[in-house]
Amino acid sequence: MIIGVPKEIKVHEYRVGATPEMVRMLVGHRHHVIVETKAGASIGFSDEDYEKAGARIVNSAVEVYKSEMILKVKEPQESEFSLMHEGQLLFCFFHLAPDPIQTKHLIDKKVIAIAYETVTDKNGRLPLLRPMSEIAGRISIQVGATYLQLNHGGKGILLGGVPGVPPARVVVIGGGLAGTEAARMAMGLGANVIILDRDLDRLRELDLLFGPQLSTVYSTSSSIEEAVVHADLVIGSVLLPGKTAPKLVTKEMIKKMSPGSVVIDIAIDQGGCFETSRPTTHTNPIYVVDEVIHYCVTNMPGACARTSTLALTHATMNYVLALANKGFVKALREDRGLKEGLNLFKGHVTNESVAHDLGYPCMSTDFALAHFEET
Ligand SMILES: NC(=O)c1ccc[n+]([C@@H]2O[C@H](COP(=O)([O-])OP(=O)(O)OC[C@H]3O[C@@H](n4cnc5c(N)ncnc54)[C@H](O)[C@@H]3O)[C@@H](O)[C@H]2O)c1
Repeated sequence: MIIGVPKEIKVHEYRVGATPEMVRMLVGHRHHVIVETKAGASIGFSDEDYEKAGARIVNSAVEVYKSEMILKVKEPQESEFSLMHEGQLLFCFFHLAPDPIQTKHLIDKKVIAIAYETVTDKNGRLPLLRPMSEIAGRISIQVGATYLQLNHGGKGILLGGVPGVPPARVVVIGGGLAGTEAARMAMGLGANVIILDRDLDRLRELDLLFGPQLSTVYSTSSSIEEAVVHADLVIGSVLLPGKTAPKLVTKEMIKKMSPGSVVIDIAIDQGGCFETSRPTTHTNPIYVVDEVIHYCVTNMPGACARTSTLALTHATMNYVLALANKGFVKALREDRGLKEGLNLFKGHVTNESVAHDLGYPCMSTDFALAHFEET
């Protein structure tokens, strides 16, 4: 198979869809890999490293997009749609449910979109979202601690306090992968941490994992309000897989927070879980509503792009190999979890949540696979 790896063009996005190590593995299986020049340059992977691994370096995205499969990290950007061709396989993050414009473009281009964020493993978990969520969760506390500083507009509170002065109150809404790592980091820095989830089993696991240092709270609108209005730092990390995030923190709750508090909406890539959230970038990561600092960067792991690329490609490696070696149909037929990743198929939506949220009919993946073989 011919596999293309473009340079990411989202603002301050330095991750790359394949490392030289992954290229070496694919080339070892007799695939051709085309990498756009400088695709990994910012994170220590030079064109020479890719060439040594067996890739062909090209000077433009146009060349890369001639490939059968495109391997990248973030959702395609405006200038990339015109480069795609019908039946091309795209393997990356898409987050389509809250993004009708991107979805329409991809439907029009009749590509086959397998979304990292909806691929599942045999336990029904999200193995490709996992490393990014873990990283975003950890980054959220570093960022939150920084914006709580007075010189960054915050209320001037040190997350861990000092002897005789209480620590900051950190509230994490959603105790999954990102939320757990946020809580771990916040506790590690000595903050007072409350985590809310509506999954009681998850709350039990968190209780066992962290013991009494972490307060676990069942998530309802009133328990969220009670926690949020007294918080210095709130992390939003809920997920309803494939769906637009529920708006759990209302404008009124934000208004009741004290000035200089910080909210970080990790779930912004699924539309955000604060009513006052809107997507931001690493260039302009924050804005202020009712004297509360909002950080809503949609690609937080991009800030630690080398760590993130290594973690992501460790997770995608076997799926990429399966798609390249077996071809799209066989790879999906033999792996139900990878099949869950199919979001769009040649002009049709094949993910129920995306179809529901954006008002498209949903084609079953089995029908899509059968149809592919006929065409
Ligand atoms: N901004 C970024 O750069 C970035 C990076 C990685 C992940 N993310 C996003 O972070 C979010 C969380 O991802 P994750 O992997 O941790 O998900 P996850 O599935 O591991 O965890 C989500 C948790 O939210 C809980 N939840 C659902 N509804 C809730 C409610 N009403 N109240 C409280 N908890 C609720 C679930 O029970 C679950 O425990 C996702 O939207 C993901 O796309 C964003």
